[in-house]
Amino acid sequence: MYEFAIAWEWLAFAVRWLHVVTAVAWIGSSFYFIALDLGLVKRPGLPVGAYGEEWQVHGGGFYHIQKYLVAPASMPEHLTWFKWESYFTWLSGFAMMCVVYYGGADLFLIDAHVLPLEPWQAIAISLVSLSIGWICYDLLCKSPIGNNTWGLMILLYAVLVAMAWGYTQVFTGRAAFLHLGAFTATIMSANVFFIIMPNQRIVVADLIAGRTADPKYGRIAKQRSLHNNYLTLPVIFFMLSNHYPLAFATAYNWVIAALVFLMGVTIRHWFNTVHARKGRPIWTWMATTVIFIIIMWLSTVPRPEEKAENASLSAMQQRFMADAHFGAARDVIQARCSMCHAAEPVWEGLARPPKNVRFETDGEIASHAREIYLQAGRSHAMPPGNISEVTPQERRLLVAWYESAVKGPPTP
Ligand code: HEC
Repeated sequence: MYEFAIAWEWLAFAVRWLHVVTAVAWIGSSFYFIALDLGLVKRPGLPVGAYGEEWQVHGGGFYHIQKYLVAPASMPEHLTWFKWESYFTWLSGFAMMCVVYYGGADLFLIDAHVLPLEPWQAIAISLVSLSIGWICYDLLCKSPIGNNTWGLMILLYAVLVAMAWGYTQVFTGRAAFLHLGAFTATIMSANVFFIIMPNQRIVVADLIAGRTADPKYGRIAKQRSLHNNYLTLPVIFFMLSNHYPLAFATAYNWVIAALVFLMGVTIRHWFNTVHARKGRPIWTWMATTVIFIIIMWLSTVPRPEEKAENASLSAMQQRFMADAHFGAARDVIQARCSMCHAAEPVWEGLARPPKNVRFETDGEIASHAREIYLQAGRSHAMPPGNISEVTPQERRLLVAWYESAVKGPPTP
């Protein structure tokens, strides 16, 4: 049934495409409005109820925007709402989760070496964790601590770190990172759906009825919008992380995830400060760089069970087939990888070699040496869920092969 596999693959791509497009629209409008809001200028003579204004030029025209805190005196004739970007980002993201992670639970969601789950159990954990996440977050915001902006932020950060650790204890590293992104993004979309939009509707209804709207609705919406602001960049990191096994499939992946949330704050802080015309806090970039270097270093720390020899990686020559380890590495790859990575995979459900990566000839193996090293040597991204039981010794061998080949023969 290769047709099904092909159709499924294209469905995944279509949903991914939609997801990226809606996310661009959502994040784009969100970045725009935050920058606009921070850059508003107050001057005498603004209309009654106006808080500030901004002049902008774009695409050949000038824009004059005024912000009314709470609401203008009367209901404007045309009012544009921003909500479908957010809703469709969540819906398409969830559809993709179903296609890739629920549909392919055996390969992508479950790692029997982490926790041997049945697909339905893993899917249930995934669904429950996403909904409980929103409920807990919402309760925290509505509790007394919700009035303390920084206290709340620190508490939320602790929740996110706990989730990062928790997800790595039940899913594959790849699914753990993706879930952390989905956990955060669900909170962001739910903020729009359950809090920001309803509050805006209350204010609009007051306006139509000629009542004075309570400013508390705007304040609550603003707090949620601030959280969304700081969570955006980490979510993008997690959603893209499945291409980078050094991030998600190494020993301290959950610590890496915790640091990613911090980088989201340091980078956003720079932009927020600049947009508010309050200077250029260069320290935020230095902090981001330091965190990034720590992440890079963390990704090289070997797993406890495999304190392997750690040669430094620097050179780039193609000496892989000539290397003394090649024969042994090829044996590992043929035994552990070729059932999937072949022109006609024998693995059930695979109609084509995944990502068109094949390991049938010496040349094919040698030309993928770097990926093999990253995906199966340095990280545990391959095989998915270690389904063909690659042993730590075999991984060490793949690492030794690559590293000795790039170093080249000892110079006499
Ligand atoms: C059960 C089937 C299976 C086995 C066994 C398997 N792989 Fe894969 N491999 C996949 C799938 C599925 C993908 C596509 C993953 C994706 O879409 O991110 C993949 C992708 C890859 C990629 C491309 C990754 C990228 O993101 O570009 C490499 C390289 C790779 N595998 C190497 C290996 C190595 C080395 C082994 C053996 C140690 C191995 N695989 C064993 C199924 C398998």
